[in-house]
Amino acid sequence: MCGIIACVGTDDAVDTVLTGLNNLEYRGYDSAGIAVQNGRELVVRKQAGQVSELTGSFVESLPESTTGIGHTRWSTHGPPTDDNAHPHTSRSGDVAVVHNGVISNYGPLREELEELGYEFTSDTDTEVIPHLVDRYLDEGLDADVAFRRAIERLEGSYAIAMMIEGENLIRAARQGSPLVVGLHDDAHYLASDVPAFLEFTDRVIYLEDGDLVTVDADSLSITDLDGEPVERELDTVDWNPEETGKGGYDHYMLKEIESQPEALANTIRGRIDPEEPAVILEEFPAGSFEGITDVHLVACGTSYHAALYGARLLDEAGLRVRTTRASEYTSIVPDPEHTLVVAVTQSGETADTLGALRAARETGARTLALTNVVGSTAAREADDALYIRAGPEIGVAATKTFSSQVATLTLLVERIRQDAETATEREDLAAFLRALDVLPDQIEEVIRISRAQALSSAYEGRESYFFIGHRLLHPVALEGALKFKEITYEHAEGFASGELKHGPLALVTPGTPVFALFDGVHDEKTRTNATEARARGAEIIAIAASERDVDAFADELLMIPDTHPDLSGLLSNVQLQLVSYYTARLLERPIDKPRNLAKSVTVE
Ligand code: AGP
Repeated sequence: MCGIIACVGTDDAVDTVLTGLNNLEYRGYDSAGIAVQNGRELVVRKQAGQVSELTGSFVESLPESTTGIGHTRWSTHGPPTDDNAHPHTSRSGDVAVVHNGVISNYGPLREELEELGYEFTSDTDTEVIPHLVDRYLDEGLDADVAFRRAIERLEGSYAIAMMIEGENLIRAARQGSPLVVGLHDDAHYLASDVPAFLEFTDRVIYLEDGDLVTVDADSLSITDLDGEPVERELDTVDWNPEETGKGGYDHYMLKEIESQPEALANTIRGRIDPEEPAVILEEFPAGSFEGITDVHLVACGTSYHAALYGARLLDEAGLRVRTTRASEYTSIVPDPEHTLVVAVTQSGETADTLGALRAARETGARTLALTNVVGSTAAREADDALYIRAGPEIGVAATKTFSSQVATLTLLVERIRQDAETATEREDLAAFLRALDVLPDQIEEVIRISRAQALSSAYEGRESYFFIGHRLLHPVALEGALKFKEITYEHAEGFASGELKHGPLALVTPGTPVFALFDGVHDEKTRTNATEARARGAEIIAIAASERDVDAFADELLMIPDTHPDLSGLLSNVQLQLVSYYTARLLERPIDKPRNLAKSVTVE
């Protein structure tokens, strides 16, 4: 939520900050701003609206600079207005700050500062920060100490970058919100996320909570709040900068849907041997999950749907399993010694999921982060990390990461069931792994044959859209509906097939589209309930591998290739992603940046 970028030592700070903001806009896009300085003057430009609107004279009049900070906002305190946009400045204008997170004690701090004569020009929590620094500078403290003193006063979560007029350096701090340093020969970058500066450098340091950083063009120092030096590891990111561009597509979402064959191939590469048959997770050799009897999964949104998929497989394998929306997690863990808590999170930065992960850690249960982002907070805080290796995902709607999360979870489930004494073994492991092995090609086939575009035109303008599925297709139905509402703004709901008749059927009227998912084996419930809906006028769009199975009651068919029933959901989901995408396109929605949303939700 909110993206921040800072650079020092670059040839053109305006250009670098704007590039970073464009790369980070998926984190928030209701207002944006930039501040630069050339060692003499510090100039700020900010306004409500998207980063793409920071153009023309608005930025052209900024001075040539080597140091800058920028921000793209997802509002928490105060509406998206010019005044509430970041950077925020001190009353003298000498101190400029960008911030991601929430300062929970900003109320009392604001009162205290107002009593001292500070006037606030925004509704934001952030504005207390430049005023606090200004206050300590006025008291005669040197800039390092003034910054530390201000940071000490803050409660809540923050990633902050600050500039002071006259200094070609950036000070930054991290507590509870992501912040990463990028290192180049004669420049440094700071950002909420690596894609911000990936085209400039792949050498990074992931900061930890409590870290304070000072960078100029040639030097970098990291300390704790007492000013004591702190050592952090240097990492190299193996993402390709081209992966963060649109690559000729109109939208990141379509690019990411169509890159699923490649993403999934990366996810499973080296991790399965269908001939043996074996699942090889380097991170978890045989015996890693010995003694585990209970698995808790926590996640939000799309990741929650992936977690439900994994949970169903664990349940069928005989493990005790609990899946909770992270924001509702209660840290009641009856048997922590034998419990594994898996946080499923693409970004590894979702505040609700991190909250659940931390609560789980306190119980003494073992924790595992299943995530896409190496070095993310979840990956660092959990006992273990398992990466889904999907590559960067920029579109706010999660697509390829869902597929890679589910595939990774199926592998994790196999590893757990091999170790856990209470679990049953999968009898058809070879067949399952063979099916997984060819899944990337089958996804490619789905993309090639999909009639989703034509179908979207045919069904545009209906009042509601329903999605139903049974067993592993239930979470896929939920995911189909979430994606549909998220990017089309139309009403959509997903249900377990059998639930339709327990209430939602009342909403079915002539012409209501019902997307019904079939895996070719566990289809009876969906068939019956789809038929019942059709009898009330619904139009059934079956997503299935064979016309034969659905001919009697389906109005339309979206074909998927034949696969193992435990993987069929990954193919149906691609059809549903395409239906959502093309419907949103017809409705001219801002597909990559749906209203009110952000890619990474770092506030609770
Ligand atoms: C889905 O399209 C969403 N953008 C959203 O539900 C997302 O999956 C959720 O916010 C969780 O994010 P995470 O995977 O990064 O934790």
